[in-house]
Amino acid sequence: MHKRQIWIIDFGSQYTQLITRKTRELGFSSEIITVEDAKERVDSGDKPNCFVLSGGPQSIFEDQYDYSFIFQADIPTMGICYGMQLMAQFHGGKVEKGTVAEYGHSKIHLQNGFEIKGCPRDINVWMSHSDHVVEIPSGFELIIESHNKLVAGIQNTEKRLFALQFHPEVEHSEHGKDILRYFYEVIAELKEDWDEAEMLKECQEVLETAGDEYVLCAFSGGVDSLVAASIAAPMLKDKLYCFFVDNGLLRPQDYGHIETLKKNTPLNIEIIDAKEIFLNNLKNIDDPEAKRKMIGKTFIDVFEQKVHQFENDHQIHFKYLLQGTLYPDVIESVSPHKKGGKSVTIKSHHNVGGLPERMKLKLLEPLRYLFKDEGRKIGEKLGLKHEWVYRHPFPGPGIGIRVLGELKEESIQKVQQSDQILFEELKEHNLYESIAQAFTVLLPVKTVGVKGDGRAYEEVICLRMVSTTDFMTATWTELPHQFLSRVSGRITNEVPGVTRVVYDITSKPPGTIEWE
Ligand code: XMP
Repeated sequence: MHKRQIWIIDFGSQYTQLITRKTRELGFSSEIITVEDAKERVDSGDKPNCFVLSGGPQSIFEDQYDYSFIFQADIPTMGICYGMQLMAQFHGGKVEKGTVAEYGHSKIHLQNGFEIKGCPRDINVWMSHSDHVVEIPSGFELIIESHNKLVAGIQNTEKRLFALQFHPEVEHSEHGKDILRYFYEVIAELKEDWDEAEMLKECQEVLETAGDEYVLCAFSGGVDSLVAASIAAPMLKDKLYCFFVDNGLLRPQDYGHIETLKKNTPLNIEIIDAKEIFLNNLKNIDDPEAKRKMIGKTFIDVFEQKVHQFENDHQIHFKYLLQGTLYPDVIESVSPHKKGGKSVTIKSHHNVGGLPERMKLKLLEPLRYLFKDEGRKIGEKLGLKHEWVYRHPFPGPGIGIRVLGELKEESIQKVQQSDQILFEELKEHNLYESIAQAFTVLLPVKTVGVKGDGRAYEEVICLRMVSTTDFMTATWTELPHQFLSRVSGRITNEVPGVTRVVYDITSKPPGTIEWE
């Protein structure tokens, strides 16, 4: 990884990734780092151009860690929420333990004489804290106050320190990016250093390590593996093979997409037809976790077997596995916060985990420092079609987790057919790109309906459409009634065995995006 000029020290906030994303969107290179790693690197003589201290779920009164390495580094530093409290306390200010948490929308006011380019004096922001600063440290000035007269922002321009009690990185905070830009440009005086050309260069450097060896790509046709393979293709030429596993749990649009890519890109795509094996292995399994695990295990078995066969047939040996792993997966798997530990498993995500160990392949992950949006930008820069790059994400277990309960051929078909209708209508009504993810789910209930002149006792399809940028939180998407009515009408008419269509109006949390 090239040097990043901003280190975002993670104190365990659920919003740390958003700080990094927003910072990069502003054109500044940044990485997320644990306190321990930051200390180790500073102790060994490395230093960023500036620190950002994230929020965190704990109280500074329970934190005994020695943070002097941050504040004695003599570089510009921004503290957000927990980070502000650490900064204030370290410099002799007073932080008080909150009795009630302030969580949600709040209004702040910029103090007289203080200005941020592009910002009005009153701004709606997102707060999430209980402790707060009650005495400002000497040398600092109060620059922002909340409407209930709490300290919301302080700065010490001489020491280039800046701190906020609210979260400018969160979508709900108006002018969040203007506020972050103020710190980076005015206080820290940084120069922009992050754009698509820089990202692409780094990705290519990762791929250079493959030299002349054969590289195998576990290819789903989704944005991430497509971008990773498209960066690699001109470098590795005929040494790169993309294997696509047809697990029978795909939608009609996926089959169409893979055929299009086969025809219209220079990628060597091998399609492995494993529908029957998957369906057989999944017989009689109705528990969601057991299904996910079986899909994951079957994927590995099928993939490994096919690759060995291919190696024998072609007298070649694959040394590397190319994957479209993104930064959020990397950050989650290293469990950033020193006290945090890995968060509880809500669902076990399978993709190609397990393959490298079994097949002794070395990993090539050119996108491992990028967010999905950044991968998309590179994809467009490489000339990939806009509609390929902006496809909705599709989970590895596919329709397997959208047919609730046991997977049967006719249930899979109901989801395939209803999903195709939803997809066609979204495209037709120009709604596809305004939604982050849209799909149908087959519910394991039967309901009474009328079809023709008779009574029908058939199944229910649920429509799930969400708006989100980070997929960690999401809201259900508000859509025109006329559109919903059209989709419902087509599904009940055209999909055999379905009498009812419902719309899921649950946000995440508490409901996850997928149903299983
Ligand atoms: P949830 O359901 O956890 O989903 O709110 C968040 C995002 O992750 C996708 N998802 C998966 N992706 N393998 C994947 O590659 C999986 O096992 C998996 N489970 C959920 C989901 O579609 C959404 O985009």
